[in-house]
Amino acid sequence: NSLRFYGIESHAELAKFSVRTALLTWICFSIMRLCSILFCICGVRCPLGDTSDILGGSQMIHIAIDGPAGAGKSTIARRVAEQIGFLYVDTGALYRAVGLFALRAGVDPADAAAVEPLLPKISLSLAFAQGVQQVLLNGENVSEAIRTPQVSMAASGVSAIPAVRRFLFSQQQDIARSNNVIMDGRDIGTVVLPDAQLKLFLTASPEDRAQRRFAQLQEKGQKADYEAVLADIRQRDYQDSHRAVAPLKPAPDARVVDTSGSTLEQSVALLRGIVRDTLGI
Ligand code: DC
Repeated sequence: NSLRFYGIESHAELAKFSVRTALLTWICFSIMRLCSILFCICGVRCPLGDTSDILGGSQMIHIAIDGPAGAGKSTIARRVAEQIGFLYVDTGALYRAVGLFALRAGVDPADAAAVEPLLPKISLSLAFAQGVQQVLLNGENVSEAIRTPQVSMAASGVSAIPAVRRFLFSQQQDIARSNNVIMDGRDIGTVVLPDAQLKLFLTASPEDRAQRRFAQLQEKGQKADYEAVLADIRQRDYQDSHRAVAPLKPAPDARVVDTSGSTLEQSVALLRGIVRDTLGI
């Protein structure tokens, strides 16, 4: 009955119909491929999709999450990455490792002339143990050492130096080339992964972010003063968004998500929903 309903009377007819549909799909796909290659050769972004995919480039899915310090990017991104089986990459850790190296070398992290000569002495790598990112600085695991307030400020200092940004750029792109990633930072959607299939700019009021950071520090048993945390956040916001190179700002095609007043669970659910609706995963 169901065959008749669609105007197909027998299984032989159904088979013919399927072959015809498959052939038609293949022809349509070939035409799209041809158009995309022509667009690519002409150096024009193809309206049918990412041309680099067609010419054998990255087939990976990239989700860029940018935003100011303390907006909850890392925790939210890590959770969503776990849920969809993507690698979560925290690019701030790379800047922190360079900041730590500068501090240990007794150098002012904001002094470009002093930091630049240090770069050839730095070898950084990211390792992923059960999906958890570890940062190795010249072979030493500094994942814990880079989480102090001094290193936060040093990271912000070195991140304004163009040579440092160039130094870390290819490292970030290399990881994305061979992985489905959720990458968080300040310039992921604007500079590092401008072709990311989904770009989010996660933000919250400075007071909200300071309150969360303050609670985190207290939880870890570290001494904290709310006003000092708030002042730190405001200063880093200013530095990160006023630097000349790759300043913190939403990409024109980024979706801005304000998590002020939301719990972590609500923010994770919101982002998970956006990923599902946009990318179908
Ligand atoms: O995300 P975070 O707080 O760990 O980042 C530390 C500093 O590194 C932050 O002040 C800005 C800088 N940063 C950057 O400039 N670009 C990135 N992609 C990531 C971090």
